Amino acid sequence: MDKLVIKGGKPLSGTIEISGAKNSVLALMMTSILTDEDLTLHNVPYLSDVLTLAELLENFGITIKVKNNGQPEDLYTTKENNLSLTLNGSTINNLNAPYSIAKKMRASFWSLGPMLAKFGKATVSLPGGCSIGTRQIDLHLDTLKAMGAEISISNGYANAKVNGRLKATNFTFNKVSVGATINAIMSAVLAEGVSTFLNCAQEPEIQDMCHLLVKMGADIKNIGTSKLIITGQDKLQGATHTTMSDRIETGTYIAAIGLTGGSITLNNVDFESIKNLIDTFKKTGIQIEKTGDRTMQISSDKQIKAMDIQTMPYPGFPTDMQAQFTALMCLAPGTSCITENLFENRFMHIPELQRMGADITINNRTATVVGVPQFNGAKVMATDLRASVCLVLAALSTPEETIIDRIYHIDRGYCRIEHKLAKCGVDIKRVK
Ligand code: EPZ
Repeated sequence: MDKLVIKGGKPLSGTIEISGAKNSVLALMMTSILTDEDLTLHNVPYLSDVLTLAELLENFGITIKVKNNGQPEDLYTTKENNLSLTLNGSTINNLNAPYSIAKKMRASFWSLGPMLAKFGKATVSLPGGCSIGTRQIDLHLDTLKAMGAEISISNGYANAKVNGRLKATNFTFNKVSVGATINAIMSAVLAEGVSTFLNCAQEPEIQDMCHLLVKMGADIKNIGTSKLIITGQDKLQGATHTTMSDRIETGTYIAAIGLTGGSITLNNVDFESIKNLIDTFKKTGIQIEKTGDRTMQISSDKQIKAMDIQTMPYPGFPTDMQAQFTALMCLAPGTSCITENLFENRFMHIPELQRMGADITINNRTATVVGVPQFNGAKVMATDLRASVCLVLAALSTPEETIIDRIYHIDRGYCRIEHKLAKCGVDIKRVK
């Protein structure tokens, strides 16, 4: 397993290109199931989750052609960060999403809705839990059953079918769920009739997917709100779309500058999706200046102010930024309370931060952080995607050597992180 070896303690300086959003591109790629025509996606980030989803889609029979600056590329060996994919679902000949692939990426379960909508049946492996929580799928199944699907669970698979077409439904989510909202939208766009969904997740990545679906001929009203009205179509056309920039990657590098000091430029920033996050970081004392339509200058003198946050569905503070923000608060003089409201076990990074000298106590859903002068280097282990990047941030702040193991977690959601940080002056190496 690869490790990252980091010797930090120096202010960052340089420029970072923000990549396409992981949690958008997975949904965008999944829509290729819904049409027989070419779907071309630009600004696709080179991430292991993208490779896993490509493997799943090719397993269904979808063809995927990869280009980099117009030149054909091999998705699995490319050295580029930013790709264009053309997917075509007209050759789908297998409606089974196997555990061997689905176990690597929970979003595989988002194939259930579109497969049912397009083909009337599908067998999809249950996603299983992960280290941050049990990750139920009851809302996904309830929505599809409300649309006429018959679903039985056996041997770790959801076996689903519908007589004829999925039917439109009026459905209220009893909990805000990104994945269940995505599955519902991709089902309703081809269902018979007009569906109304209440209490939908409003994440920007869902909005990005809806904008693509509308380009494909879908009829979706109130995009970006919690009440979506979708009029099903008989078929959808192909389209071309550019993946939105990754707001969580952007927030991660803003937290980094708070821990290292210095000043860097971020390019390809999607300001619309991080307005509230920017306000929160400004309150910690990090200077953030918009220097162009899609560029920002972020600086810090490492004088970080302690503050409390609670994770909430969008537009609240994102749970995917909680670990990174916790690392930042570890060096903020005073006390900060970090409350995680979305997942029952998303504090796996805290024991590792404690091994680096952090002073944190957990009480149920709240971590109370007391600021310390600095982190110590240590051998630590990544446990999930955001926990692993939070350890990178802690390591950036200290000149002592830190070795982070199991960094395959990082590769799922951060495109070439060691290259981007090395370009900002960080002594960081990936070792086998
Ligand atoms: C998506 O996961 C993201 N993943 C997660 O990002 C993100 O943390 C999460 O949304 C919340 O924003 C992708 O987009 C690929 P949920 P998802 O359904 O859809 C409960 C990352 O680091 N729930 O919104 O699985 C669930 O248990 C990843 O990039 C049900 O109870 O999240 C959780 O407590 C991690 N029943 C809460 O809702 C259901 O049927 C929110 O989960 C579905 C969910």
